[in-house]
Amino acid sequence: MIIFTDATVAAGKVTILDQVSVAFAAGPPTVLIGPNGAGKTTMLRAAMGLVKLNSGAISCLSSARRAIVFQRPVMLRRSAAANIDYALARGEARTQRIEELLNLVGLAGFGDRPARRLSGGEQQRLALARALARDPAILFLDEPSASLDPASTKAIEDIIRAVSARGVKVVLSTHDLGQAKRLAGDVVLLHRGRVIEHAPASEFFAEPKTDQALRFMAGELLV
Ligand SMILES: Nc1ncnc2c1ncn2[C@@H]1O[C@H](COP(=O)(O)OP(=O)(O)O)[C@@H](O)[C@H]1O
Ligand SMILES: [Mg+2]
Repeated sequence: MIIFTDATVAAGKVTILDQVSVAFAAGPPTVLIGPNGAGKTTMLRAAMGLVKLNSGAISCLSSARRAIVFQRPVMLRRSAAANIDYALARGEARTQRIEELLNLVGLAGFGDRPARRLSGGEQQRLALARALARDPAILFLDEPSASLDPASTKAIEDIIRAVSARGVKVVLSTHDLGQAKRLAGDVVLLHRGRVIEHAPASEFFAEPKTDQALRFMAGELLV
């Protein structure tokens, strides 16, 4: 659904993405893994069309609708429901749709609460609902459970599975190998702005083909 062809992004002399060629196909989630600074966030932002390439290209299937949830989503200083309402298209049957979305992310009954008073995990789920309000064909999630406890992480992963089962293509980044194992259909290992390996998850975890993949899984690939 998205194809990177030799996509390169640089900031000054620093190369952040280095001739990345990769395709995200329809189906189960694609998980980007790699150490801090590998380029995961930049890759997601580029796929969303938010980063200017220095060279190469990124094409998106028939301008499929895309949405992104950043690592630290910012909520409007309004109710949870109003945060979703803000993202909905004009003319939609809003009240019912808001209820549906709150339900989907396990926040039924939270609509009237001030969004910024919700817990970290609840805000992350509200951010997911807000992104889904755009009815995306592709959903990018940058470290969706980075600072959450195990219960909140599980809640987020359950939503990701449900959304994926509805046919939305999910592309997410994580540095949590367990999360990658639980969610990934295919895995992209990034290191220093390059795609080191891209393989079906079963293959990647059973027989990693590169030294970097082995070191990453052993916790030794740090930068
Ligand atoms: N706008 C920018 N200007 C300069 N350096 C940047 C910019 N954005 C990202 N970087 C650098 O690019 C590298 C990759 O960043 P990022 O995509 O955030 O990696 P990750 O999400 O894998 O941790 C990091 O070293 C980061 O400091
Ligand atoms: Mg990042």
